[in-house]
Amino acid sequence: MLHTINNRFLAFAKFALTLFAALVLSTAAQASTATLQNMQTAFNGESNAHARYLAFALQADTEGYGQVASLFRAAARAEEIHAANHAAVIQKMGAVPQAKVLAPEVKTTRENLQAAIKGETYERDTMYPDFLKQARIDRNRDAIKSLNYAKAAEAEHAKLYTEALASLDRLKGSKSMTFYVCPKCGYTTNNANLAKCPTCFTPKEKFERVA
Ligand code: FE2
Ligand code: FE2
Ligand code: FE2
Repeated sequence: MLHTINNRFLAFAKFALTLFAALVLSTAAQASTATLQNMQTAFNGESNAHARYLAFALQADTEGYGQVASLFRAAARAEEIHAANHAAVIQKMGAVPQAKVLAPEVKTTRENLQAAIKGETYERDTMYPDFLKQARIDRNRDAIKSLNYAKAAEAEHAKLYTEALASLDRLKGSKSMTFYVCPKCGYTTNNANLAKCPTCFTPKEKFERVA
């Protein structure tokens, strides 16, 4: 009698354990899928921003806004760095980075700056904070780092684009200007006196010059 009860209990315990393991595994899989999808979305966004800003730079040069063209080229390089950082995380998670780069919609430089500010603001205030929240839930340190790097750089891009838009009339006929881009996190600045990156502490000597 006791023997039968023991056997029944063991069978039940085994069943409960299996169920628990399946639940834990499926929750973990869902979590990693959410961050993986977010990283793919971010990779796609950065790849498109890179192409868009290069096209905006050409338009700015055509309209005689040399300094704005330099800013677009510097930001384009930063977005390329973000895309590469996100791609490395995606690959580490065992997936293939996927982006669909569309032909950029190019308007006047004033409108292009407005569109760029809108995109950067969305990434800074909505997309990256949301993705970071999920990455923290998933405890994905690589994703958190890459997303934080991009978020900090987009905040700077929004600021630089807003300044350019505010002084656009004065920038008509301006020549190209040197910007400095952090090769690790994409931080973008025109401050030549910077000692190191405020986001990732890479020394200024390692920054890329984009004009
Ligand atoms: Fe970016
Ligand atoms: Fe940006
Ligand atoms: Fe940096």
